[in-house]
Amino acid sequence: MRHTTQIAFILLFSLFLHAPVAARSINVIPTPQSVVMGEGAFKLTSSTRIEGQGKGAGEVADFFIGKLYRAGMRASEKRGDKKQGSVIFKISATAPEGREAYALEIGPQGVLAQARTTTGLFYAAQTLLQLLPPQVEATAATDKSLFRTAPTWELPFLKIEDAPRFSYRGVMLDPCRHFIPVSAVKKHIEQLAAFKINKLHWHLTDDQGWRIEIKKYPLLTKVGAYRTEGDGSNYGGYYTQEEVKDVVEYARKHHIDIVPELEMPGHGMAAIAAYPWLSCHGDTVKPRIIWGVEDVVICPGRETTFTFLKDVIDEMLPLFPGELFHIGGDECPRQQWKTCDSCQALMQQEKYTRLSQLQSYTVGEIGKYLKQKGKRLIGWDEILEGGNLDSSAIVMSWRGEDGGITAAGMGHQVLMTPSSHGFYFDQFQGDYVTEPTAIGGYSPLEKVYAYDPVPKALKETGKEQNVLGVQANCWSEYIHTTDMLEYRLYPRALALAEVAWTQPARKNFADFCRRVDGDAALRLKAWNVNFHIPLPEQPEGCNDQLAFTDHCDLSLTTTRPLDIVYTTDGSQPTETSMRYVAPIRLERTTTVKTATLLPCGLMGPIRTISATKMSYLPAVEAPSGDKVKLSLYNGRYASPYILPAVPDTVITVEKIEAVRGQRQINSLLGKSEDYASVAEGYIDIKENGIYEFSSNNSQVWIDGLLTVDNSTLKVARFSPNKRQLALAKGKHAVKVVFLGGIFKGWPTYWDDGKVSCKKVGQ
Ligand code: ACM
Ligand code: ZN
Repeated sequence: MRHTTQIAFILLFSLFLHAPVAARSINVIPTPQSVVMGEGAFKLTSSTRIEGQGKGAGEVADFFIGKLYRAGMRASEKRGDKKQGSVIFKISATAPEGREAYALEIGPQGVLAQARTTTGLFYAAQTLLQLLPPQVEATAATDKSLFRTAPTWELPFLKIEDAPRFSYRGVMLDPCRHFIPVSAVKKHIEQLAAFKINKLHWHLTDDQGWRIEIKKYPLLTKVGAYRTEGDGSNYGGYYTQEEVKDVVEYARKHHIDIVPELEMPGHGMAAIAAYPWLSCHGDTVKPRIIWGVEDVVICPGRETTFTFLKDVIDEMLPLFPGELFHIGGDECPRQQWKTCDSCQALMQQEKYTRLSQLQSYTVGEIGKYLKQKGKRLIGWDEILEGGNLDSSAIVMSWRGEDGGITAAGMGHQVLMTPSSHGFYFDQFQGDYVTEPTAIGGYSPLEKVYAYDPVPKALKETGKEQNVLGVQANCWSEYIHTTDMLEYRLYPRALALAEVAWTQPARKNFADFCRRVDGDAALRLKAWNVNFHIPLPEQPEGCNDQLAFTDHCDLSLTTTRPLDIVYTTDGSQPTETSMRYVAPIRLERTTTVKTATLLPCGLMGPIRTISATKMSYLPAVEAPSGDKVKLSLYNGRYASPYILPAVPDTVITVEKIEAVRGQRQINSLLGKSEDYASVAEGYIDIKENGIYEFSSNNSQVWIDGLLTVDNSTLKVARFSPNKRQLALAKGKHAVKVVFLGGIFKGWPTYWDDGKVSCKKVGQ
């Protein structure tokens, strides 16, 4: 930029110093550290000159121009006329300090973005894009009716100085439980980079699948990348080394480092399926087809184990140029090591007294190897167990914050990713009845946003600096599709971005919601991202099938303050439907259809609640005694409607819950003999009332009425199919159907078989 222009900027911004701070009026996520607003706006036109100055700056200018082109805005590189103003991306030694920092000035002459590095300029470009209307993210495939107004390609006069709070701002993707195609990984890279996320932790190996080609050990992918699911279908996939290179290069262009994870010594069953000599007892196994922690683990007692691990690392390192290498280390049961001659010999040789020392031996050996290669080891917080952890190791705290606090206290650098504080994005983000099946837990947007990655204990001991950053983990047991991955990631990844980038004093949840539900929602939609919009919920717990005898008042709320629309005539709600303001009084059988309306005009998914007016179902005659008849059917049945007319066995049991637990289930479930069962008995209702039934069993029938129907659920877990009935005092017939088997990785034998019957209002 010429000297005169610089003077003009200085003059302009000396005026800005007295202007009100109005960071709230822009839509940038994460919130920059310093924003000073001016009066007026610079208009981008096809004559605006866009250029990079300094080494690597042209790359950023090209990126910015590419975005404008994609959105149909023909800005010109270098060819533009400077008189029409310019957008300059400049590498400058006087820019704010820091590898990722940048300064941005927008005035009548245009835009001056300055940084010391290309990364800083890239973040300046991302901020600029978010200062433009969301149409800038539209592609040819975007439905333009999404936008209420035509775009004005204007950038507000302002001055921003910005730098991240943490240098590690990560998301972990798990392609092992459910594979994530390269195209989806790239889509996430592009979107996450827009919010200044800079690390993608790629969890490439686990019990359920080995996902990276290793040429020296071809069976890792030939055998370890595929599994035969509980229903007999084949599932799998892996990344070739060429694909990995392509993804890593794509990430580099988006200033994201990929941190690969090679799990050891636990979570290694897919590798053991390929090469049984990796386990203590040479187990012949297959990749695991259920979730949870596997007992068959890698043997740390044999030299061949380390030859293997180092060979794999040797092939991985050229693919991943970043400094960080994750070696897993979590959830490794040690019982196999007790009975392994090699493990026991190693313990004697090293004078170990605890099995955990075999774990730290593994971490130590691999850590040394990685160090020789110029890499730094990261591991889950279990790498602290057994002691002796090299001081350079980075500890990733996932079992709450304790691992991180302990490790930082010992002088390690740490990454906070606590499952307890919302950073497991595989958890529910609303009431489980309204949400697709998740792994459990509760991680709504507000909880993620509220997190401070520096725990109080570390502030008190002056160890703040040991916290390198924060990460969200998106485990994929319950993420069967790329759509669901998007649903789980967004907009929570935006909250993560602000937690990771913005200083706590500048965070504000209400303002974050304004930006998410206004501008960012439209950007996500323009990218065709299936992001989460909260559903209307009943504050006392959701239920889609209500019953009443006289009237019912339906209360609705959302996990963050948003408008709710609804209809009571069975029609689909729209933007102009009735707004929810107070509990809805229902006096006759009604279907309520309701949805959340975002301020940007987008509506969330529709929730249907049926409220049935009914008389108390009369009590029935029941035989004396409380015995339950249990009919057993050998084999696996995918539906209650295909059970044979005649069961294999009929027995009498004490409790309905006995539908489950009739067979000894092998811990691997591989050798279990599946069965289905039907329990028939009576429940005793103490007084007239509305009763709510719920169960994870396949079906529950009350007095011949199908009351809980999970028969079409993919995974009979956290069943959303609650139902209320009006029941008169006395006995009522109950029939429960249980289907044993592994359904989408979930063994129904892990359910408790219970039927819950709760009086409403108690
Ligand atoms: C983990 O969630 N097992 C790191
Ligand atoms: Zn062993």
